[in-house]
Amino acid sequence: MPLKVLIIGAGIGGPALAYTLRRLNPDHNITVIDRYPELRTTGQQVDLRGQGISTMRNLGLLDKVKEIGVEEEGIAIVDTHGKTKATFRKSETGTGKQSFTSEYEFMRGDLVKLLHDASLKDYGGKTSKDGGVHYEFNKSVTALTQDAAGVDITFSDGTTGRYDLVVGADGQWSKTRKLLLGAPASAAAFHSLNLICAYYTMPRAPGDDALMKMYVAPGGRGLTTRMGCTPTTTQAYLGMRADPEALAVRCGAPFVRLPPEKQKEILAEELRDAGWQTDRFVRGMRDAADFYAHEIGQVRIDGAFAKGRVALLGDAGYCPSAMTGMGTTLALLGAYVLAGEIAKRGDGDVEGAVRGYESTLRPYVDEIQKISPGVTNLFFPTTRVGIFAMHTVLGLIETFRIDKLIMWLTPEDKGGLAIPEYPEIRFEEKDGEKR
Ligand SMILES: Cc1cc2nc3c(=O)[nH]c(=O)nc-3n(C[C@H](O)[C@H](O)[C@H](O)COP(=O)(O)OP(=O)(O)OC[C@H]3O[C@@H](n4cnc5c(N)ncnc54)[C@H](O)[C@@H]3O)c2cc1C
Ligand SMILES: *[C@@H]1O[C@H](CO)[C@@H](O)[C@H](O)[C@H]1NC(C)=O
Ligand SMILES: *[C@@H]1O[C@H](CO)[C@@H](O)[C@H](O)[C@H]1NC(C)=O
Repeated sequence: MPLKVLIIGAGIGGPALAYTLRRLNPDHNITVIDRYPELRTTGQQVDLRGQGISTMRNLGLLDKVKEIGVEEEGIAIVDTHGKTKATFRKSETGTGKQSFTSEYEFMRGDLVKLLHDASLKDYGGKTSKDGGVHYEFNKSVTALTQDAAGVDITFSDGTTGRYDLVVGADGQWSKTRKLLLGAPASAAAFHSLNLICAYYTMPRAPGDDALMKMYVAPGGRGLTTRMGCTPTTTQAYLGMRADPEALAVRCGAPFVRLPPEKQKEILAEELRDAGWQTDRFVRGMRDAADFYAHEIGQVRIDGAFAKGRVALLGDAGYCPSAMTGMGTTLALLGAYVLAGEIAKRGDGDVEGAVRGYESTLRPYVDEIQKISPGVTNLFFPTTRVGIFAMHTVLGLIETFRIDKLIMWLTPEDKGGLAIPEYPEIRFEEKDGEKR
């Protein structure tokens, strides 16, 4: 029996799940909604690492991902004069052991579009109109209740629907999580890492090249440039350590709730005298239309991230935070495992599949969410001595070509669990047979 599925959120995880379910059974009736008026293709550079690479290979999408790749040769750590303190070249192994720069780097929007388009293609001789997948924008969920046989949903436009499976793939601030767990438990699941980050593009300048440049200023502040985008622009990343509560008192409201113009003002103030290209970053930020700022943190739910016929997927259920570099990988792996568990049990046992999803994915979530406390301290040192220490450590690592020392910093190499295999999802082999 084909399933009636509602997916909330058309970011990375949502369209990835729609695509996979559709290929498993083209007759599933899958609706993907997003609160935005259109497919949201903004965002800066993201990457695939470790298990994300194997997942995309099994999904038959790794070749497509190569096509959207951006060139980045590695990362250079610079001082206030722009002088290079250490350089790390990208890793080429694809096995999980990665350096700072993965060999699969691309713009977030290009991946969103790739997954969205893949979910709408014809499979098994069926078009997306035969059940299939359809997207509805400017739409969210206001109420959710479930019983043993289905999930009842009320939408923001007042309409209602009943589904066999509902998936909340609505990001770090997931409303579905709130509806599933209740507001207090949902809020308690967010663990701040006391970092505010902002991303935008600014005009390209001489000196911007294929190396990502990272500058760390006193006071736990950081500036980074990256190239992968249009030939005339450069990506700007700002980071600062901040106690969110103290900042909220100062701003009169939580930083993340402030309008972008106000956020820009505060960041400009905080960055004063930070050194290196601060003036350029501040000018670029004022003019940026694609400015996006957020508080970095992890979502760690006390209990299950999937219950009955409702599952949280990606950042909504287990955001590992940008500090791990694994957000995209984990959202894709989550979509793969949820679809795989449905394929394994057959369409008749959704609740079993949801339980299987929770128990199969949990070890990966736990593994990836372990951030060495050293990461934040190393990259956001608060004192000049700390910065000196960072430059020294990174310089030593480079000098002695012991990039492998970096491995203790990144979680995917601690064990590097192999992804579960679902024989039904070897789409790259199926595609190969057709050729
Ligand atoms: C605009 C944007 C820019 C980003 N930029 C970066 C970046 O530069 N670097 C980086 O590392 N990560 C970035 N991220 C986060 C990154 O995409 C995720 O960490 C990761 O890829 C996991 O994806 P996800 O599908 O779980 O969530 P997301 O990619 O965050 O997608 C969630 C989707 O849900 C939608 N949504 C939210 N609330 C609701 C609601 N109530 N009802 C319906 N839909 C809703 C959102 O509009 C969005 O399309 C960005 C996310 C967004 C939304
Ligand atoms: C799929 O579900 C939607 C709404 O839930 C419904 O309008 C549509 O007719 C269904 N499509 C098919 C082919 O059953
Ligand atoms: C979005 O939906 C709301 C209510 O559901 C409606 O009032 C508004 O006009 C819609 N906007 C767009 C751009 O469709």
